[in-house]
Order: sequence, then structure tokens, then C-alpha cells
Amino acid sequence: MTESIERSTVLSGMRPTGRLHLGHYHGVLKNWVNLQTQHDSFFFVADWHALTTHYEEPSIMSANVWEMVVDWLAAGIDPDKATLFIQSRLPQHAELHLLLSMVTPLGWLERVPSFKDQQQRMTDRDLATYGFLGYPLLQSADILMYRANWVPVGEDQVPHVELTREIARRFNFIFGRDKDFDRKVEATLDRFDKNEASLLMKCRRSWLQDGKVEARKKAVDLVANSKNISNEDRERLIGYIDGTGRLILKEPEALLTEAARLPGLDGKKMSKSYNNAISMRDDPDRVAAAIRSMPTDPARKRRDDPGEPDKCPVWDLHQVYTENPVRDGLASGCRSASIGCVDCKKPLIEAIVEEQAFFRERAKTYEDDPKQVQQIIADGCAKAEVVAERTLQEVRSVVGMIYD
Ligand code: TRP
Ligand code: SF4
Repeated sequence: MTESIERSTVLSGMRPTGRLHLGHYHGVLKNWVNLQTQHDSFFFVADWHALTTHYEEPSIMSANVWEMVVDWLAAGIDPDKATLFIQSRLPQHAELHLLLSMVTPLGWLERVPSFKDQQQRMTDRDLATYGFLGYPLLQSADILMYRANWVPVGEDQVPHVELTREIARRFNFIFGRDKDFDRKVEATLDRFDKNEASLLMKCRRSWLQDGKVEARKKAVDLVANSKNISNEDRERLIGYIDGTGRLILKEPEALLTEAARLPGLDGKKMSKSYNNAISMRDDPDRVAAAIRSMPTDPARKRRDDPGEPDKCPVWDLHQVYTENPVRDGLASGCRSASIGCVDCKKPLIEAIVEEQAFFRERAKTYEDDPKQVQQIIADGCAKAEVVAERTLQEVRSVVGMIYD
């Protein structure tokens, strides 16, 4: 398929950490729910990625996986729209990871910032392993497998997408030039109208020599619109225009979401490890108690001390949960001490509980009938496998691993 007529594919994965919290919902899942309506979407449980750091805790993996998938569904991920699957159910991910590893320079992996960072930060674990070094390459395999155009991730994952682009380029450069590359390009060009062929060559030169992006676009459009050549010839020709070889693997782009960084109960980023999280399916009483005991602006020792919302972690939550004009009203009430913190927290508790009612209601169907969740994943795995197998057949073939 050529670039201009291709439908966009979105792919993202999440490590199974068990029940998700409101930070996951506002930072990631809400975005996925939105994306699934506009793109071919693949969302998967990155259980092998979890194993790279948590291989000493195999007994919690399964529960964590199913709890997380239920939270995805509770958030509104719709299995009729998006393909949901578990990474380890598709051994193709391991095979592609292995094949990519053959051409991955060790230095590229050692230089990925998360490699050293995490080793230094997670001192309670031994991360001096082959598996952990390969973490970002496994991620590259996940992405390249589905020819994803867009990879919605947080900022910390951008270097992994960048590595994926470099791997794709290197792979295409090495394996996209079969020994007949030039001869095949020539044969394909012969099928073009003479003027078109010379325009294409002119544009290619202008792109490769002077970096003229419009010239590339013109050349690629000519190829995209040509009727009587095969997809394979088309991809080879686009590789020729870019000087890279045939495009076997597609370079993805990171889709950085303006992550609503949801503060936790102590004002720091909401995170399970800080013990400051409200989980998506917490019960209303617990939510109310947790918000009521949240710290506020320390200047408001007594009810009639005026406060400053910008110094208050409760206020950060109002940014996400409360619309104007109510929010402005609360701010001025705080500054003039005409409302107390209890009054201010009440509408927040209500908003969170209302949002969660929606999650709980949807989760209940699946909690009552876990087989449904398993079926959704089984169907998703089957759909993902068709795409994965298609990519791997091509990859196996270009690396010479076809024996029939
Ligand atoms: N490494 C990602 C994270 O920690 C999870 C992940 C694995 C992923 N494979 C992926 C994300 C592929 C996007 C695409 O969040
Ligand atoms: Fe925070 Fe609201 Fe209390 Fe002001 S009134 S300090 S914003 S909780």
C-alpha cells in the first residue's frame, strides 16, 4: 500500500500493573477511547515487557493482566472498534524481536536513556539482564509488526519510538535492496509514461540532493497514482526515491498526548508506587474519605483564614473535574474565605464518584462474567495474528528464512 492511500494505524501497549487509577484514565485511556473511533487501533498487554523487570513475581502476572483489561473496557475501549490482545499470545512478537536483534548495534540499545535510568532507579532489582537491554527493541517489534503510523505514548517512551524508526530504516536499507533492486526499479520505471518518468527522476534528485520536501511528495504521488504496477514495485520505487531500499518496515511516529498529569492525594503525580492513587473502581466511600483527608493550602489553618488555590493539591484536581463558572466561584470563595475546604471538596468528590459510576457499571458485566473478557482477548489475538503473520512472512522472506 502506498503512503497517501493508506488508512492510519494506531498501536499502543501497556504493562500489566493490575488495577488502573484515575491517572491512567486521564493520561492514557481517555485518549485511546478517542483514537479508536478514528483509526485502526491495536491496544495490547505488554506482559513480556513487564517480565523484563518483574520476573521474580510470576504469580501476580495473570491477575494483573485481567484486572487491567477490565479497566480498559470500563474506560470505554470498545472491542468492536479496537483490537485488544496480549503480547505473549503472539509468538510472532518474539520472532520479530529476534530477527531485528541481528541488525541492532549494541550501542543503540545501551544508549537508550531508560536503560541506565531504570537500572539506577530500581536498585531493588537486578536489571543487568539481556532481556532488559532488549526492552526497547521488543517494543520496536511490537510497533513495526502492525505497520503503525502513530504510537500514542508518554514523553518517557519517545526515545523508544525514535529507536524504532532507526531500526526500520536500517532494516530497510539492509534487506530492502535485493540484488536485483536497481534492475527492478528500472523495469518499473519503464512502465511509466516517458515524461512522468523523467519528472519523477527530477523530483527524486531535488529531494535527495537539496532536501526539497515538496519534490518528494510530487514523486511519491506519481508512484501512488500509477495504476499498472504492483504494490511491491510501488514500495520499491518509494524506497528508491528515498534512497533507502524497499520499505519493508514502516517508520512510526510518536503521538505525544498532552497528558493531563493528574495529581495524587498528596499533590505529587498520581502513582501506585507513591500510594497516593484513587483507582478507577474504588468505592464511593473510600473516595470521599481519601479526598476529605487531602492536604490543602497550609495557610488555611482555620475556616476563616483565606487561602490560595494555586498552593493547594485539591485545586489541581478541580482543574480536571470541575468546569467553569463553578471553578471560578470556588477560587474566589477560597481567597475570601467565604467557603471552607469541606465545601470546596464536596463537588470534587461528587464529580469523581459520578465518573467512576460509569466505570463500575461497565466493569460489573465483566466481573460477573470473566469469560466475556477472555473471549474479547481471544478474538483480538486472532485478528492481530493475521496482521502479524503477514508482516513476518515478508520479513522471514527478506532475511532468507523461507525454505519451500
Ligand atoms: N514500554 C511501554 C511502557 O512502558 C509499553 C509498551 C510496550 C509499548 N510495547 C509498546 C507502548 C509498543 C507503545 C508501543 O509504557
Ligand atoms: Fe484548597 Fe479549596 Fe481549601 Fe482553597 S478552599 S485551600 S482550593 S480545598
